[in-house]
Amino acid sequence: MGRMKALVTGGAGFIGSNLVHALVERGDEVRVLDNFSTGNRANLERLDVEVVEGELRSYERVHAATRGVEVVYHLGALGSVPRSVQDPLTSNAVNVEGTLNVLLAARDEGVRRVVFSSSTSVYGTSPHLPTSESTPTDPISPYGVTKLAAERYCISFSRVYHSFEAVVLRYFNVPARRRASTTLRRRSESFSASPSRSASSRRGRETFATRGRTSPPRARSSATSRRSTWRPGSS
Ligand SMILES: NC(=O)c1ccc[n+]([C@@H]2O[C@H](COP(=O)([O-])OP(=O)(O)OC[C@H]3O[C@@H](n4cnc5c(N)ncnc54)[C@H](O)[C@@H]3O)[C@@H](O)[C@H]2O)c1
Repeated sequence: MGRMKALVTGGAGFIGSNLVHALVERGDEVRVLDNFSTGNRANLERLDVEVVEGELRSYERVHAATRGVEVVYHLGALGSVPRSVQDPLTSNAVNVEGTLNVLLAARDEGVRRVVFSSSTSVYGTSPHLPTSESTPTDPISPYGVTKLAAERYCISFSRVYHSFEAVVLRYFNVPARRRASTTLRRRSESFSASPSRSASSRRGRETFATRGRTSPPRARSSATSRRSTWRPGSS
């Protein structure tokens, strides 16, 4: 596989910076878009990456960061449930409108694929165990609602623009022995999402996708995409 040009939003954060390390390690050319609100520059120290300080809520900033990339890994978000209860407007602006900006910029720049980081918060307190891709979504917190709305925008874009591929990942709680910058100094301990729910469950973490297809093995995450062509009259 050739050197891929990737944009990682939220690349200075916990999961994003681990992803950036993995992409750089496999030879990809990586750009990070982050406003460092919860992320940390130290997470990207000594890495050969282009860092764009910017705000997901600004289409212009997101568009500029998206130029020339083939894939966008969209992890930038306000991830706190309590924060979303206290200030749902801001969580919505960053998580929903920010995702829309990413999708629009990706469409405008002809990006091949957008990989969106969702959350099992979209299930609320589902009594269905084990949770599966067909488990009904019923988010409780505003955060969960923002993630579900953003998921739906991703799926909508992949339906409306048939050359556009959106991949939605729903993370369970992602632990690491050390988080953020400390984690990265000890990279052998760093996070990796698993393609296998049973395997990941054994390690106390789970990741799965909304539907079907597994992402490239090197990404070590399960993924799916929905692609269909928009037809007049369809919703
Ligand atoms: N950590 C988990 O267990 C978990 C579980 C489910 C889903 N997720 C999702 O995974 C993604 C990454 O989570 P994380 O734990 O690494 O969070 P994190 O807070 O460490 O990383 C989020 C990054 O996004 C950046 N960011 C926030 N608002 C921004 C804005 N307005 N503009 C630009 N950048 C902005 C932050 O500075 C930070 O670097 C998020 O989308 C989160 O919702 C995480």
